[in-house]
Amino acid sequence: MKKILLTGGTGYIGSHIAVALAREGYSPVIADNFSRSDRRIAERIRELCGRAVPVYEADCRDINALRNLRDREGHLDGVIHLAAFKSVGESVRKPAAYFDNNIGSMSVLSAFIKESKIPHFVFSSSCTVYGSPEVREVTEETPFGKAFSPYGYTKQACERLTHDLVRAEPWLKVVSLRYFNPIGAHPSGRLGELPGGIPDNLLPYITQTAVGEREALTVFGEDYDTPDGSCVRDYVHVCDVAEAHVRALAYLADAEHSPEVFNIGTGKGHSVKEIIDIFSRVNGVPLKVIHGPRRPGDVDAIYANVDKATEVLDWKSTYTVEDALKHAWEWQKSLVNF
Ligand code: WQD
Repeated sequence: MKKILLTGGTGYIGSHIAVALAREGYSPVIADNFSRSDRRIAERIRELCGRAVPVYEADCRDINALRNLRDREGHLDGVIHLAAFKSVGESVRKPAAYFDNNIGSMSVLSAFIKESKIPHFVFSSSCTVYGSPEVREVTEETPFGKAFSPYGYTKQACERLTHDLVRAEPWLKVVSLRYFNPIGAHPSGRLGELPGGIPDNLLPYITQTAVGEREALTVFGEDYDTPDGSCVRDYVHVCDVAEAHVRALAYLADAEHSPEVFNIGTGKGHSVKEIIDIFSRVNGVPLKVIHGPRRPGDVDAIYANVDKATEVLDWKSTYTVEDALKHAWEWQKSLVNF
């Protein structure tokens, strides 16, 4: 059974990937410093995997912590690197923390991969590498844009490192998955987003407002160059994002060429206002909304062209935005007992 190191594996996306990997017959091993996740999620991952999943408290900037994990786990067949801060808004407020954590972790992990001879590497990248594209439906050929946030810049820098890594270590094969906006929760109701404190992202803020934890949702700007003035994003179910990693590992097993990059989205854009309306409609829950100024770091509109992931990885999204918004609401309601 192939052993895959999952950094940030108890986080929102990582926990869903762990379950998808186990279902596919891989053996996930998690390294997490729990800075943006809850330790209790480890037990739920094991429950859904139906077996033990080793979880090590480790910061990816600490190579000795990673070495300790390797000493105990033996050879690792691959790494999926998720451990990073991921809020556009927060990165504008805390740029140094984003550079230190996101680029620092990637740099140390890359050295660990080299010394451990781990042959396959899946990097969690982001549509924010495109900046504010002229053509809003982006393909993987769309060049990096001017990073609108420190977060986006750290993802551009880390993708660049993957190219330099492969040039220096031709035995290594790498895929970068450019996530668009992951939303939703596991259909079982046992995994979902746990923002911790005041959410930066839209969906947890919506669900916390709906459940009464937040007074109202603020729409950040309605004067963008979009049909209803609010920003457009490509909201993709977190379980579809997780499945893309399973396909990426299968691709790497036979890949002739690397690094490769793939857009992971639905191929459809929705505005903030549309998401709010769909959420209320499918869940029968009203939302108190107020209208605020633009948020620094936001781009008007971006959504994915996913032809390459479909053709090369045999991947496309299977859940609708409506599914994701229902699952997100079910998860939020379940947290009353968490
Ligand atoms: C979406 C829209 C906000 C909160 C995310 C991830 C990032 C990357 C790309 C994976 C924006 C608006 C938000 C609120 C609002 N994904 N908004 N009121 O910035 O697109 O980035 O997707 O790598 O990691 O963070 O997502 O959810 O923060 O914002 O109006 O209270 O919702 O202005 O237009 P973003 P987001």
